[in-house]
Amino acid sequence: MTHKVVVTRAVFDDVIERLRGCATVADNPSDVPLSPEALADRAADADAIVCALTDRIDATLLDRCPRLKVVSNIAVGYNNIDLAACTARGVMATNTPGVLDETTADFAWALMLGAARRVTEAERYLREGRWTGWQLQQLLGTDVHHATLGIIGMGRIGQAIARRALGFSMQVLYCNRSRLDEATERQLNARWVGRDELLAASDFVVLMVPYSEATHHMIGAPELARMKPGAVLVNTARGGVVDDRALVEALRSRTIAAAGIDVFEGEPAFNRDFLALDNVVLAPHIASSSTATRRAMAMLAARNALAALAGERPPNLLNSDVADRA
Ligand code: GLV
Repeated sequence: MTHKVVVTRAVFDDVIERLRGCATVADNPSDVPLSPEALADRAADADAIVCALTDRIDATLLDRCPRLKVVSNIAVGYNNIDLAACTARGVMATNTPGVLDETTADFAWALMLGAARRVTEAERYLREGRWTGWQLQQLLGTDVHHATLGIIGMGRIGQAIARRALGFSMQVLYCNRSRLDEATERQLNARWVGRDELLAASDFVVLMVPYSEATHHMIGAPELARMKPGAVLVNTARGGVVDDRALVEALRSRTIAAAGIDVFEGEPAFNRDFLALDNVVLAPHIASSSTATRRAMAMLAARNALAALAGERPPNLLNSDVADRA
């Protein structure tokens, strides 16, 4: 009997073709996000779900999908998946690490540079016809070169962000659960410090931690107050890692100078008060969105799903207990 794979969002045609080579595919070319009810209906007889961070994969859904062997997320972050519920039901869960590191690091830098040098604010100024001529003190920004960069979450993406800092002659401080080995620290010119020291000493603070209960509102009013008044905060991690209401207040009161934000609490809804602020660069969760990288992520998710269906261990298995038990 052929396997059935549900693909919850629109993906590239070659990815669908790859899946169709081995399974019946229920795809979603219209890309309208499926409600929990619609997903449960579609996946009721599915062996695999290839999903996105916009899909909630929880016990209620899993209980309605008795044939399910694997949930394959097209994302490196997987806080949309209840991993314990998957493991308890013998369902493998996978993600897409590695393929998006450099692209995401590029975008963290785009936000850093954009916020420091007021790029989107300057463009608005021009588009609105407000530019009447060159002035010495026009749209003065903050220097990135030779500044101190603090990275909270020094996994693969954090390290890719740090590598780029070498070209800007920056000092790099980092917080991470575990310290990097000495050779990597030397290569990146990076120093392991406590979070309070990082916040107080950095001109740029970039967040690259996964979202969990432990990282919920990791940056709130007290942390923002610890930062330098000229500092720039960049969130390319997950909505909820920052208390967005506190960030709006800190930007409004100039507790910090600026921010670059790609992810929001409760997205696609977001705190509309950001829109009234000039000192924030806003993006709709696109840090990994280059054509090559989004295609690589979707293809890797397909490979993970097909491996599980073939009885193999998927390359990016998150709950190895399930495969060990099989
Ligand atoms: C994007 O946010 C991802 O986790 O891949």
